[in-house]
Amino acid sequence: MHVLAKHTLTKHTLTKHTLTKIVPLTLAIAIMAFGALSASAAPPAAPAAQEGNPERGAYILSLAGGCGCHMGQAGFLAGGEKFEGPFGVVYASNITPDSETGIGNWSDQEIIDAIRLGEHPGDTQLHPVMPYPTFSNMADQDVRDLVAFLRTVEPVENAVPPRELEAPVPPFEPRQPAPAEAPTEGVDRGAYIVNAIAHCGDCHTPRTPQGAPDMSKMLAGAMIEGQVAPNITPHDATGIGTWSEEEIAALLRTGERPDGSEVGGLMKLSVDGGYVNMTESDALAIAAYLETVPAVANTAQTPEEMPEEMPTTGGVLPANWLIVAGLAAALGTLLLVSGVGLRVVVRRVQRRN
Ligand code: HEC
Repeated sequence: MHVLAKHTLTKHTLTKHTLTKIVPLTLAIAIMAFGALSASAAPPAAPAAQEGNPERGAYILSLAGGCGCHMGQAGFLAGGEKFEGPFGVVYASNITPDSETGIGNWSDQEIIDAIRLGEHPGDTQLHPVMPYPTFSNMADQDVRDLVAFLRTVEPVENAVPPRELEAPVPPFEPRQPAPAEAPTEGVDRGAYIVNAIAHCGDCHTPRTPQGAPDMSKMLAGAMIEGQVAPNITPHDATGIGTWSEEEIAALLRTGERPDGSEVGGLMKLSVDGGYVNMTESDALAIAAYLETVPAVANTAQTPEEMPEEMPTTGGVLPANWLIVAGLAAALGTLLLVSGVGLRVVVRRVQRRN
């Protein structure tokens, strides 16, 4: 059962592209198996020693939503998934212990540096599509446990194509050193899971035009892969302010909203891929933390709902004047037809000149 779940089922977890490739039947089996797993699996207590514990590492992988980006067609954690953006093209690495195409020859420290700092032993900097800015906060013990788990995975030979980047990736400096051990309970535990492992913000926090997370709207909803990741701040009207902590925790472990509807898309993949294995106390800790983040009034919009960007006087180049004039004329006609102040438009156009 365990082997089946590990090698057959987690393939179908959170990823950008497997989303469309999932065979419903396999997914159904996966959900059933994960259900069975989660019923029996409680995370083992942290060992006193510094040795990595693979069982705890498997739980860390679950808290991360299953590292679904690495679950391509090639096999469990064997990588190959393609991620495209304005930055170019990158492929998820093969993180199985295969010595030729995976990370079998890497030392523990090399794997830890790749996870937390994005440093590749070949002296290249990984692209932050790999969420090392989040994982940089992962406690020493947790990352060691995760590495110990990765060592137990079945090696898969899968050579991943080289990346093609538009610009070099700048080196990464973590803002603070990672803790030695993770907090074990309460709001601190929730904050830690959200900001160091479960990377909720990678989907739910909008980005600035430069691509950095917009922390003034932390967890206030964003568009990701054409899907809306809703506002999960405690704002009553636009967030989840009216949900109880138990309801939030239940959603994380089952994918079910308080009204009985099911989450879909990337959230469902994160739940099925790992959150479903979360202990109740960890899910409640996350819920308790979410109640403490600033409530932000914001509704993430799909591209179709977003208004076309209107040219503004400030940034208008001479070549764009025709467009501006055309828009002004159209607006003027509209206002004229409806019998409202054409003079306003005229004055505006004059001011622009
Ligand atoms: C890979 C992207 C991704 C990650 C990671 C992610 N979410 Fe989501 N989440 C989504 C999407 C997309 C939806 C909307 C699903 C839908 O519309 O059915 C969603 C929905 C939700 C909802 C339901 C909100 C509502 O109003 O219906 C909650 C609550 C939620 N997520 C909390 C979390 C928390 C807490 C975490 C971290 C532990 C998290 N999510 C991690 C993408 C993500």
